[in-house]
Amino acid sequence: MAPVTAAPDPLADQMPGQIWPLTATRDGAGRLCLAGHALSDLAATHGTPLYLYDQTTLDGMAAAYQQALAAAYPAASEAAYAAKAWLSTAMARWAAARGLGLDVVSAGELAIALHGGFPAARIHFHGNNKTPAELTAALAAGVGRIVVDHAAELATVDALARAQGIRQPIWLRINPDVAVDTHGHTATGHAGSKFGLALADGTAEAAALHALRLEGIELCGLHCHIGSQFRATEPLTLAVQRLLDLAARLRDRAGWRLAELSPGGGWAVPYLEEQAAGLPAIGAYVTTVAQEVIAGCRQRDLPLPKLALEPGRSLAARAGVALYRVGAVKRSGAVTYLFIDGGLADNPRPALYGARYSALLANRLSAESPQRVHVAGPYCETGDVLIQDIELPPVQPGDLLAVPASGAYQLSMASNYNAALRPAVVWLTAGEAHLVQRRETLAELLAREGASGLSFGRQAA
Ligand SMILES: Cc1ncc(COP(=O)(O)O)c(C=O)c1O
Repeated sequence: MAPVTAAPDPLADQMPGQIWPLTATRDGAGRLCLAGHALSDLAATHGTPLYLYDQTTLDGMAAAYQQALAAAYPAASEAAYAAKAWLSTAMARWAAARGLGLDVVSAGELAIALHGGFPAARIHFHGNNKTPAELTAALAAGVGRIVVDHAAELATVDALARAQGIRQPIWLRINPDVAVDTHGHTATGHAGSKFGLALADGTAEAAALHALRLEGIELCGLHCHIGSQFRATEPLTLAVQRLLDLAARLRDRAGWRLAELSPGGGWAVPYLEEQAAGLPAIGAYVTTVAQEVIAGCRQRDLPLPKLALEPGRSLAARAGVALYRVGAVKRSGAVTYLFIDGGLADNPRPALYGARYSALLANRLSAESPQRVHVAGPYCETGDVLIQDIELPPVQPGDLLAVPASGAYQLSMASNYNAALRPAVVWLTAGEAHLVQRRETLAELLAREGASGLSFGRQAA
């Protein structure tokens, strides 16, 4: 498809600076474009719902992390993409090419990463209940770090590693008991959370001392991840202090040296224009964390560890746009619904977290005065409302709606609810619109079915 030349944006005020991909523009015909590709052309070629990833934006976010780490932290550092935000072989190959690490949490994510050629040595394998089969696969692949969540897992990793005649490098996931200002479902570092080894009651310290005695284990680092979509650094800097306190105690008690420290990911992104106000930039957040580690190590006389951050949402969300086609406009009582061809099945975040989104009419400009509507999907849940209360110009069946900030925790949480087919994904650069995941097919849905051997007797008339 020939890229469309982008004209100066006549809707600059409708293209907020922080939530659309860096390459978002309108062309002379008023069509929304990403990386020079008109979204209406992409919808015509690939159908809808369609997910689009803008490589320029991904590159910008990765560079923001890597440059801020290099500038603010004098020892070794690494930005590792948290694959749970969205993974595909394209994403794995992109992350590998950009020198990122990769955080995976399952045999499935590991398989996709390896299939995409991601170097196993740069993979961190997370998870609070990894199965022996998953751990075996991870060790066999040679993953760089297993992030151990609890004492029983320590024993399993040790046994598997000894059976393979290796010493597996690990981090311990620590629960630092800090409260973070985010949705309750995405807070992970408070007392009582299911994640990590509790610090306050000595569990974490005991596990670390135990790990140091295990032949199959090389304890090289401490990790925490306190939650997702948080906007203030104070809980994170408190968590860093607590991890460094633990490292100092382990040095004093066992002569251990903290070689690597990972305070996880979790930095917020704006989903709505107004949420961008007051949100420190990635560079400022990284600098704050780096300075806290430097000062904390100096106070405790610890050598600087390698510093690893694990951004998911803040790398991927802004790069993604979801594109839907309007099927019908319906009035129900006082409410006007725009029905689109996706929603809950490809993006459960509004239903799960009350997440809020914005949208633009993508295939044309409209000078008509906006109306207040709800944008709802086709799925059989009253909660299948993608956007509650949004002002949009009058929209016709067949129009396209584009939803920004759709790159993280949407497709990776997508389901087959109502036997929905998972959307196609197109990867955009200035010269190319590459189909990196085709739309799921009915044949693929049916391929899992295995009822043919069952017998139910005679068919009722
Ligand atoms: C261990 C770990 N690291 C990193 C992340 C990434 O978080 P975010 O996508 O909010 O940056 C998560 C998310 O749940 C996580 O569990």
